[in-house]
This record gives sequence, structure tokens and C-alpha cells, in this order.
Amino acid sequence: MKSNIYLIGFMGTGKSTVLNKLAFLTKYNGVDLDDYIEKKEKKSINDIFAEGGEELFRKLETEYLKNVSEKKEYIVSCGGGTVLRSENVDIMKDNGTVVLLRATPKTIYERVKDTTNRPLLNGNMNEEYIAGMLKKREEFYLSAADIVIDTDDMQVSDICREILEKIKKNS
Ligand code: S3P
Repeated sequence: MKSNIYLIGFMGTGKSTVLNKLAFLTKYNGVDLDDYIEKKEKKSINDIFAEGGEELFRKLETEYLKNVSEKKEYIVSCGGGTVLRSENVDIMKDNGTVVLLRATPKTIYERVKDTTNRPLLNGNMNEEYIAGMLKKREEFYLSAADIVIDTDDMQVSDICREILEKIKKNS
């Protein structure tokens, strides 16, 4: 097994939930990149966007992705936009297996509709907007992924089992 596992995918595809279960199963350390950024910067993601916009957030995201990628046997749950920078994809590919979690716009909307901690969706919280954003990002997700899991209607334990089986097969 390559040393780290990176979970990628759109907002609301279950990366953080899968992270916790997968870390428990593998005994790897788990880190949620957004939580890590918030902890290190002592600011919420909303506040970082409010202060310096998406540009500042993306800069910090790359900096902290580099930081956590120096560690071994880590599972990193990335933000939904981490794959948009090729530099980030290179870091992930150099240090581990990249696992894409997918879900339909309907499932994503149901999961995120009552949240306010995602600046890119605040004010755009509807299925059509999510579908449009997902379409624009689809090729970034697919080209970064070593493994793809369609999570709709799947239990987290089944998602984890499928991830571990596919990693084993790929190694
Ligand atoms: C973003 C997704 C968020 C967070 C930031 C930007 C994106 O992470 O990194 O709000 O561009 O899709 P989650 O996917 O964990 O919600």
C-alpha cells in the first residue's frame, strides 16, 4: 500500500465521514485538510474567504497539503476544490493513492443544504448550481483519481471496504 490515502471529491460526497471510519479501520492517522487549515490559521474557512477571497484560501490549501504530505501513513480528506491546482494533484500522487468519492447533485444537495460553512455554496444553495459546478470540475476529479467510488445509497462501511479492496488490487 502506498504510504498515504487522499480522499477527493465534491463538497458533500462524504469525505470526512469516510476519513474517520477509514482511519479507524487502517489505524492510519486521519486529517481533514479544511479542519487543519482552520486550526493552523485560527480562523474559519468562511473568515479566510472573507479576508482574502478564494485566492488566499487556495494558497493556504497548497501550503498545508504540502505540510501534511510530508507525513507517512496518513489519510487526508481534501477540500472539494483541492484538485483544481495541478500542483496539489502532483503532491497527492507523489505521496499516496488518490480516492475519488462521487455522488449525484441530488444527494450532494440533500447533504449540504442546511450548512453555511462552505463559502462557494452560500447564496447558491440549490441543486442546479451544484450540478453546474460538478460538471465543470468533473474532469479534474477524474484525472486526479486512482480509484473512483460512487457513494450514492452506500453505507460508510461498504465504501471503506471497497476503497481498501481497490487499493489492494492496485498495489
Ligand atoms: C471547497 C470545498 C470545501 C472547502 C472550501 C472550498 C471547494 O471543502 O475546502 O469551502 O472549492 O469545493 P469540503 O469539500 O470539505 O466541503
